[in-house]
Amino acid sequence: MEIPFAESWKIKMVEPIQKSTHTAREKWLKEAHYNVFQLESQKVYIDLLTDSGTGAMSDRQWSAMMVGDESYAGATSFFKMKETIAAITGFKYVIPTHQGRAAENVLFSCLIKEGDMVPGNSHFDTTKGHIESRKAFAVDCTIAEARNTQLELPFKGNMDIKLLEDCLTHNADKIPFVLVTITNNTCGGQPVSMQNMKEVHKVAKKYKKPVLFDAARFAENAYFIKTREKGYENKTIKEICKEMFSYADGMTMSAKKDAQVNMGGFIATNLEEWYEQAKVKCIIFEGYITYGGLSGRDMNALAVGLDENTEFENLETRIKQVAYLAQKLDEYGIPYQRPAGGHAIFVDAQKVLTHVPKEEFPAQTLTIELYLEAGIRGCEIGYILADRDPITRENRFGGMEFLRLAIPRRTYTNNHMDVVAAALKNVYDRREKVTRGVKIVWEAPIMRHFTVKLERL
Ligand code: F0G
Repeated sequence: MEIPFAESWKIKMVEPIQKSTHTAREKWLKEAHYNVFQLESQKVYIDLLTDSGTGAMSDRQWSAMMVGDESYAGATSFFKMKETIAAITGFKYVIPTHQGRAAENVLFSCLIKEGDMVPGNSHFDTTKGHIESRKAFAVDCTIAEARNTQLELPFKGNMDIKLLEDCLTHNADKIPFVLVTITNNTCGGQPVSMQNMKEVHKVAKKYKKPVLFDAARFAENAYFIKTREKGYENKTIKEICKEMFSYADGMTMSAKKDAQVNMGGFIATNLEEWYEQAKVKCIIFEGYITYGGLSGRDMNALAVGLDENTEFENLETRIKQVAYLAQKLDEYGIPYQRPAGGHAIFVDAQKVLTHVPKEEFPAQTLTIELYLEAGIRGCEIGYILADRDPITRENRFGGMEFLRLAIPRRTYTNNHMDVVAAALKNVYDRREKVTRGVKIVWEAPIMRHFTVKLERL
């Protein structure tokens, strides 16, 4: 008999979670204005809101926490972190920040000015926020095939090189850098191929533009390269990462994802001019350049987390859990962005709630239905998150409309995944009865999804 696959770790510490009743959830959700970000976590049974900072740290990480150096300047923890980052990425300059968007804030404050354009593959919402709040434009050059959720492509997160080149040809003077998000979160946790990174780099260099990686899930991206791209099957994850980063001039990192910590981020680069400018902004916004908003113990845990998550077994355990949930949804016929991504399943809400018009936000409606069904919190990656066009102020209905089920690292078992799949199946079975969605009663001028207030129609 073939021995089945099992996790590459065992559990040493647990945290109780609570079930609730449908009646209680109705009340809580109403109080939260039908926005799941406004729910207290105690009112959630299985929390798939995000995989960001919600994972479990290893015993090695916790022991590293105990020996953090809390010196204000020149802490050994900083140098440990910097050496690990340099070994994995090849970048020699490192600036810590308290999370990913802080890295964006520090670096973009130096690089982006009003009227600029930043071409990329489905910029993440905070990234887009940091571009648009500077009155610049995020130009989406993701391959068109990514929009067809039922199409199986190994590297659906890729950039369309022709679109990128068009953008560079017509706007070269307005483009401070080209941005590649690995993996491509917004289009479904989809990976970018090594070939595509190489081509992006080549085109960018033709126009003398630097390439920046938004590298929150770079290790998951490397796993997909190893398992899907010809020529990489015998390389280690660390070797693949080194090659990936050789096609970039720098990176912003949310360490809350692939560095497996609860809080943290950094900028890393080989460009001295980026480093020199960013140092100044780091001191203003984050803190001194050898801690940047992190304590010494955080930097120690980050270094160990990065090292652990650039090993094949850890990544395989994680990505196979996402695939396990996908397989259940396949059994039930529930449509999602195919193939399953690295950190989440993105349910195609428009294909599920076909009677809910786009103006009533089907993905948010599905998010609400899943919470009501079993206390499972996913999140909308769709029209509410897409925000309004900065110029016309119209809702941006052009993109994809997903309920994202993000799976925290090393946190839930496949039994939890069974519960999630069963709850979603129940919602799916009664989908024809869901004909109305929600309307917005209050929204913030930018990044509205975190605080939006909704009413059920
Ligand atoms: N870039 C990407 C691709 C991300 O997914 C995120 C965060 C960030 C940047 C910002 O990092 O949260 O540390 O400030 N994504 C989380 C998510 C929040 O749920 O996908 P941060």
